[in-house]
Amino acid sequence: MSKLGVNIDHIATLRQARGGPEPDPVSAAVLAELGGADSIVVHLREDRRHIQDRDVRLLRETLQVPLDLEMAATEEMVKMAISIRPYLVTLVPEKRKELTTEGGLDVVVHKDNLKKNIDLLHDTNIKVSLFIDPDLEQLKMAHKINADIIEIHTGQYARAVQPAEIEEELKKIVQVISMASKLKIGINAGHGLNYRNIAPLACITAIGEFNIGHSIISRAVFAGLKEAVSEMKQLVTRYDKNQPF
Ligand code: PXP
Repeated sequence: MSKLGVNIDHIATLRQARGGPEPDPVSAAVLAELGGADSIVVHLREDRRHIQDRDVRLLRETLQVPLDLEMAATEEMVKMAISIRPYLVTLVPEKRKELTTEGGLDVVVHKDNLKKNIDLLHDTNIKVSLFIDPDLEQLKMAHKINADIIEIHTGQYARAVQPAEIEEELKKIVQVISMASKLKIGINAGHGLNYRNIAPLACITAIGEFNIGHSIISRAVFAGLKEAVSEMKQLVTRYDKNQPF
């Protein structure tokens, strides 16, 4: 059964809007855990626009579930991860001006830097996931440089509107999952997933964990965080045999 990782960056975004102490992502993590989160995900950006170093340190000390630290593959960030020792580091591409992570890593182009950083993290027993588009060449290279997990960027799927387009995006995801299963590399998925588009993916039992942030935090504004997490948890663990995949 797939797990649910809850990304709490947007709680920190709200806090940073006023520069004060609330709302505190550390409190959010407690409620997410109570709602059934299997892990907590935070993206420590180089520009520190939402999550701060203090958040990551406190989460590492207080979480009852694993911490997945998303970050860029830079020397500064790898040093930070080695000092904090999260359960998992997810390496993502980062552009200063983007609103959110816009695409997957180009593992083929950046293989040397990624491999160097994966090796450093492995030396400290930190597992490494690479955030990639649903692309077979990216998957093969991620496997070659010893990534433990790939996280499939589901943004294109989430943005698709027409049924044929949705089907096409799902096919790409299924193809990558099928090869990843053969290669015995772990499979996560995330970006743009919400309460309406999760169903076809929830039926793919090979997906180890979904990482979901924006839709859960948005629903939490009205329903409360524990309830919003709990509703999503029910959806990611629901297998519907009538779904096409
Ligand atoms: N996975 C990764 C690697 C991400 O960068 C993000 C966005 O921070 C997510 C998952 C969650 O995306 P969303 O907020 O759209 O659910």
